[in-house]
Amino acid sequence: MQDLKIVGTAAYVPPLTVSNDDLTTLMDTSDEWITSRTGIRQRHISQGENTSELAVKVGQKLLAQTGYSADQIDLIIVATMSPDAYTPSTAAIVQGKLGAANAVAFDLSAACSGFVFALETAKNILKASAGTTALVIGAEVLSKLVDWHDRSTAVLFGDGAGGVLLTTEERATPLVAGSDLRTMGQLNDKIVAGATTSGTSFPKQVTGLTSFTMAGRDVYKFATNEVPKSIHRAAQKAGIEVEQIDYFLLHQANARIIKQIAKRLAQPLAKFPLNIDEYGNTAAASEPILLNDVVNAGKLKPGMTVAMSGFGGGLSVGTLILNF
Ligand code: UT7
Repeated sequence: MQDLKIVGTAAYVPPLTVSNDDLTTLMDTSDEWITSRTGIRQRHISQGENTSELAVKVGQKLLAQTGYSADQIDLIIVATMSPDAYTPSTAAIVQGKLGAANAVAFDLSAACSGFVFALETAKNILKASAGTTALVIGAEVLSKLVDWHDRSTAVLFGDGAGGVLLTTEERATPLVAGSDLRTMGQLNDKIVAGATTSGTSFPKQVTGLTSFTMAGRDVYKFATNEVPKSIHRAAQKAGIEVEQIDYFLLHQANARIIKQIAKRLAQPLAKFPLNIDEYGNTAAASEPILLNDVVNAGKLKPGMTVAMSGFGGGLSVGTLILNF
């Protein structure tokens, strides 16, 4: 059957690293608190590069690595909660800079579930259209939305981008064997960043954006309850048992959350790769950066089954069961 294949993975993070100790000069925190509560040791922070520039670097790497030319790309989706602007979309800027003249390009906003939602969306578009090749990129410059004096959020986030080049091919098993995407909008106020106000006067002032606020404990509970359920539902749709999953690539929000999810699924921690220590929480970029790390470490072999789960703002959760 005609289905999809991930031809290449890539990631780009800005060169500046900011350690936990560096943050103690800005706020009342400590390396001990951050490491023990989250697993984060450092984060990469952009110096002047905006979200589209990170995403363009990932797109360029994907084209160079796979040998595809920009005009062979039919679709570009950038998952981001920190776009360069409301318009143009970050994906449109990426399309222009890559010279991908035949691609339709748009952003997808689903916070930390964004990459999983985007991969499922790209799959459905490619399978339903004449297009064959897509770039799906998660890219974030969260540092521009962080209040660098608010220790409850500032220690958590980092900047980065990652992505995949997808194409159609004849294969025996589908790339996406099962999926489960959910939004719990009644919990929309639990993670907020970049909020605007409409204003009551006319003519109105141009609005500013708010920095991150998060009900940390509520989101922690949401993640540890909802992600295992989502993985179970996606595995059921794929017709497999959770035990048959070789790796669980979970959004890197907090190492403690991931350990708790592993426990709830009764699966060994060795199946849950972690890179949060190096990058922090990079929202929609976290999953593709992790996927790229796992691929580069030679851990993924053909025939393996991987569960990819994102969770966060919306609130939202999404899982894909992928056949490699
Ligand atoms: O990507 C989107 C999804 N996001 C998530 O999944 C995040 C989910 N939430 C979490 O990961 C955790 O709730 C946090 C890491 C955000 C916070 O950990 P926590 O164990 O829930 O801590 P807490 O907010 O309950 O705060 C505990 C204490 C408080 O002090 P008191 O009231 O006990 O005296 C905080 O004021 O830790 C204090 N605290 C800090 N201390 C040092 C909060 N932030 C810091 C800090 N440094 N950065």
